[in-house]
Amino acid sequence: MERTEIKTLFDNVQENESEITVAGWVKTSRESKNIAFIELNDGSCFKNLQVILESSKFEDESNYKRVANAAVGSAVIVHGKLILTPEAKQPFELNADSAEIVGVVEEGYPLQKKRMTPEFLRQFPHLRARTNTFGAAFRVRSESAFAIHKFFHDNGFVYVHTPLITGSDAEGAGAMFRVTTIDPANPPRQDDGSVDYSQDFFGRETHLTVSGQLEGESMAQAFGKIYTFGPTFRAEKSNTTRHAAEFWMIEPEMAFCDLDGYMDTAEAMVKSCVSYLLDNCPDELDFFNRFYDNNLLDKLNKLVKSDFVRITYTEAVSLLEPHNNEFDFKVYWGCDLQSEHERYLTEKIYNCPVFVTNYPKEIKAFYMRMNEDNKTVAAADMLVPGVGELIGGSQREERLDVLINRMLELGMNPDDYKEYLDLRRFGSTKHAGYGLGFERFLMYVTGIGNIRDVQLYPRTFGVLQ
Ligand code: 4AD
Ligand code: MG
Repeated sequence: MERTEIKTLFDNVQENESEITVAGWVKTSRESKNIAFIELNDGSCFKNLQVILESSKFEDESNYKRVANAAVGSAVIVHGKLILTPEAKQPFELNADSAEIVGVVEEGYPLQKKRMTPEFLRQFPHLRARTNTFGAAFRVRSESAFAIHKFFHDNGFVYVHTPLITGSDAEGAGAMFRVTTIDPANPPRQDDGSVDYSQDFFGRETHLTVSGQLEGESMAQAFGKIYTFGPTFRAEKSNTTRHAAEFWMIEPEMAFCDLDGYMDTAEAMVKSCVSYLLDNCPDELDFFNRFYDNNLLDKLNKLVKSDFVRITYTEAVSLLEPHNNEFDFKVYWGCDLQSEHERYLTEKIYNCPVFVTNYPKEIKAFYMRMNEDNKTVAAADMLVPGVGELIGGSQREERLDVLINRMLELGMNPDDYKEYLDLRRFGSTKHAGYGLGFERFLMYVTGIGNIRDVQLYPRTFGVLQ
């Protein structure tokens, strides 16, 4: 069967005498007086194709009846001619000569014609991509991934695949999932009763990675500019709309680069990806603008044209402190900024993306470069309206002695990071990098408020669907 995808029809609107075949799933159908209208979607684009069935054209009346009353979700194949309809809402319709249902919908199909809430649809991760919201969300996800690869490729970055099973904690935050083949009911034990991981699969303790950064840094010291794009795992027991236990992260790393270089690259990357989406996903963004955030298109169009704000943590604290009566957690110098503070800065004060730089060392990771004041590190988070922290990054500590001292201060064992420290021994460079949470980016560009609705099968604290 030579099948024409609906997207190609919309890409090149023209009447065509010859018969075409389309195949897809019924979004809606209605029938009256021997004529039926079906909205068909085949997944090739956001738009549906309107199909007209006239009973007089069908040899088999019962076949006409079956297709004309096809339930939402039925898989159908239609042969017919495309007719331009300049006066109607849609530019053309398919006038069916024949049609068949190839996949009937049995009783119990949960999707309906009417609008369903995201919460309801979360029960059906395997079916929800057939709805407008999730169809648009997952296409934007796919296009965003391409836009990110394109940005880095066009700018000479090398794409690297860092391991998912790791022996070290890249963030030093202890929020890792263990990887083991040891029988939990009968683990081998050491004399002191603790589990003997030397008998585990890798002969040592291993976990799923929380970040590819440390391995990424080693590649940056060979290629100059690299990025990773892969899954990361965090066993954080945070039950919020912005935290997932499994999420995708993009982590560029650049040699001979400082904090400003990181922020320049991150800003250019976000702008480039957003403008790619504005050009390539107009139907999807228009849908989100109508149903999720009426300000979305304005926000995205403005973003690509204006400079992001850059302020220090110390400035951020003094901007926030006067509003302490509006916060659950009071702000003071030294505190970790909570999501309510991040959102206040980026939504209420600036209403655009904001980099906050130079955080107190106590609230940031061990690898961040110590500033001269010995109190703050050369870190920066990019905060955006609606989401809060979209990117976290820093200049890295390239000085071996300073790095070892910091690790010892934090009670870490430098022997566990031997290769990482080697990079500071063998041709160390000033370098910087960052991590973009892919799902948070998708929330930002769609206006979808819950991370569970931009992942195919969300994995969040307490729930594996
Ligand atoms: O700020 P994070 O923890 O930074 C790192 O992992 C660094 N190694 C990145 C680097 O410098 N190469 O995480 C980076 C980003 C956050 O800004 C956030 O967007 C996202 O990853 N993120 C999460 N997204 C969803 N669910 C979670 N539990 C997340 N934790 C972090
Ligand atoms: Mg962070």
